[in-house]
Amino acid sequence: MDDRWLSFTLDNNYQLIDLLNGLSASQYLSEGKKLIDEGILNLLPEEKAYPEIIHKAMHYSLLAGGKRLRPVLVIAASEAVGGDRKAVLPFAVAAELIHTYTLIHDDLPALDNDDLRRGKPTNHKVFGEAVAILAGDALLTQAFILMTRSAGMETIPPECILNATHEMATALGSTGMIGGQVVDLESEGKPIDAETLEYIHIYKTGFLIRACIRCGGILSQATPRQLNSLSRFGAHIGLAFQIIDDILDITGDEKQLGKDIGSDRTKDKATYPALYGLEKSRRKAEELVEESLACLEEFDNRADPLREIARFFVQRTF
Ligand code: IPE
Ligand code: IPE
Ligand code: MG
Ligand code: MG
Ligand code: MG
Repeated sequence: MDDRWLSFTLDNNYQLIDLLNGLSASQYLSEGKKLIDEGILNLLPEEKAYPEIIHKAMHYSLLAGGKRLRPVLVIAASEAVGGDRKAVLPFAVAAELIHTYTLIHDDLPALDNDDLRRGKPTNHKVFGEAVAILAGDALLTQAFILMTRSAGMETIPPECILNATHEMATALGSTGMIGGQVVDLESEGKPIDAETLEYIHIYKTGFLIRACIRCGGILSQATPRQLNSLSRFGAHIGLAFQIIDDILDITGDEKQLGKDIGSDRTKDKATYPALYGLEKSRRKAEELVEESLACLEEFDNRADPLREIARFFVQRTF
């Protein structure tokens, strides 16, 4: 293994210190986060736009915090194949809008019924269920507005925009993220087999993560071979991400995570630690990340941010 990975220390402000050279996932992530936060403010209807309540609710969850990993993955995948971060920024912002929509709906009483998200009361706790549902719907719709026609994306060939938008929609539908959420809910309180558990995690979480990576590649005209490698990379880290999310629900610190701890156990959710135990689950996530890195072998150092983000996926404590 590259020694660089071993020299990382991490705290919750992305203070990842690489003792060997100037490269760090923290810098890339915090720079990317800044870019995305600015992009959100520029590309979303203003908080005060009429009707104010819905825009307030959209801004509330979006700006509450969040690691911005999915939009940063769009940018990192684009840069890995020689793309321009400015051109894919609206698409990256769209990915964060989509992710935030999934979180608002995931927290609703009819789904996971959680009270805390990104360190604040969940959207429905503040705005009520009706507005929270509509805020999620509006974020999803706004994302498609951004993906299909945003200033700055003119350098991207229209067919690439079409393909990437199709990619995103497919990842989110009933044969993608929604499918995973449905089986997640149906599996509450029931004994679960390994195959169904893997389906839930890949579909509810892995699909969007893989789509973000693929979209970065598609928009920046990755070759079919590069796209294939990015897909395999994304599939591995997408599953690893949800396994670690399950683990953190048990071992994490509520303040640092900004969401309810022990929520999975309360609802008897289908999780990796419930089926395999903590140690085996962590090993599985680590193996997936190692395998993900092998998928990027043919890429040069422009894929280093992708590699570092993959590492962060299993090292994270929030
Ligand atoms: C939480 O995602 C939901 C899952 C798919 C596990 P994140 O851990 O990326 O949440 P934020 O965006 O940082 O709040
Ligand atoms: C969330 O999975 C998946 C989606 C939002 C699609 P979880 O329910 O495990 O996410 P957290 O733990 O509430 O963030
Ligand atoms: Mg859930
Ligand atoms: Mg949840
Ligand atoms: Mg969870």
